[in-house]
Amino acid sequence: MTAVPTMKAVVCDRYGPPDVLRITEVPRPVPGPDEVLIRIRATTVNRSDCAFRAGIPQPYARLFTGLRRPRYRILGSELSGEVEVTGSAVAGFEPGDAVFGVKAWKFGAHAEYICMRENAALAGKPAGVSFEEAAAVCDGVILALMGLRRADIRKGRSILVYGASGSIGTAAVQLSRYYGADVTAVCTGQNFELIRSLGADQVIDYTEEDFTENGQTYDVIFDAVGKHSFRRSKNSLNPGGIYLATDHLQNLVLAATTRFADQKVVFPIPPRYTRQDVVFLKGLMEAGKYRAVIDRRYPLEDVVVAARYVETEQKTGNVVLTVS
Ligand SMILES: NC(=O)c1ccc[n+]([C@@H]2O[C@H](COP(=O)([O-])OP(=O)(O)OC[C@H]3O[C@@H](n4cnc5c(N)ncnc54)[C@H](OP(=O)(O)O)[C@@H]3O)[C@@H](O)[C@H]2O)c1
Repeated sequence: MTAVPTMKAVVCDRYGPPDVLRITEVPRPVPGPDEVLIRIRATTVNRSDCAFRAGIPQPYARLFTGLRRPRYRILGSELSGEVEVTGSAVAGFEPGDAVFGVKAWKFGAHAEYICMRENAALAGKPAGVSFEEAAAVCDGVILALMGLRRADIRKGRSILVYGASGSIGTAAVQLSRYYGADVTAVCTGQNFELIRSLGADQVIDYTEEDFTENGQTYDVIFDAVGKHSFRRSKNSLNPGGIYLATDHLQNLVLAATTRFADQKVVFPIPPRYTRQDVVFLKGLMEAGKYRAVIDRRYPLEDVVVAARYVETEQKTGNVVLTVS
């Protein structure tokens, strides 16, 4: 009998703190006809990984994430690596291709190998970008893009990004700059230099100044870190202004109730992760219009330490796991 090939992976068999994660050998996935098997070189620990591991507090959420234990044992959604095997119907990738992408909802990237459909949120790795950088971009960019598109960000519009130094925040600043908007970024002073280098026109330190008190108004206020509110932002929004939310269910209610109001709340969930957006991001990175912001790097084996750090809610940009 031939032995089933195995791989090293981080498994999560029960909801709980980062210590529930453990490294073990599991069967290596086998690609279907329209899938590629990717040997992962780098992945990330992001806020979604931590929320799914800890168990989202709302009871109905467990209908999707698993009632008594996590439905998907291997977390991790962002990845970069090399195609090892292609399914019989795959035409767009070949073994050896360097790729990057995001497998949200079903996860599986905290491992040595993952299978993804050819037409999933996956593309060739941007030229001149490391595996670590390529792994650290998809989630923040796609979440930011969903909001910015709904807010019609373009030249002549002004946006304030609250929580500009996080994963979604650093993406929102860079993309708003790319679309030509006037960008005000709110973060602590220690991140000013970074955030200016990403394209912010103005920076505000929230520990020293409350932007809602300075008399400035904006077309869009993007709460990229889920720490502000529509109520507190209203007076800082222009007529017809949009408050973009990234967290908290009450924003779904507000999005429904302000739908026909002058100032609106927009909360674009559930996120849609598409191949088209990953290809768009590849183009931006190759053109030098977008760069990965990496705070810390850990080997896969240190996933517990990495998750503890992400849960401080103080990371700057993204936290990468390297897979040797
Ligand atoms: N909608 C979705 O589908 C979705 C998916 C994933 C995550 N999320 C949510 O999106 C939010 C952002 O996630 P993320 O991964 O981008 O966050 P993150 O990277 O963990 O954010 C960390 C950053 O937040 C800043 N920060 C912390 N407290 C702050 C405060 N009180 N005011 C302003 N900035 C503060 C910190 O910067 P300083 O050092 O400058 O304070 C740090 O750089 C979270 O609430 C997360 O749950 C939503």
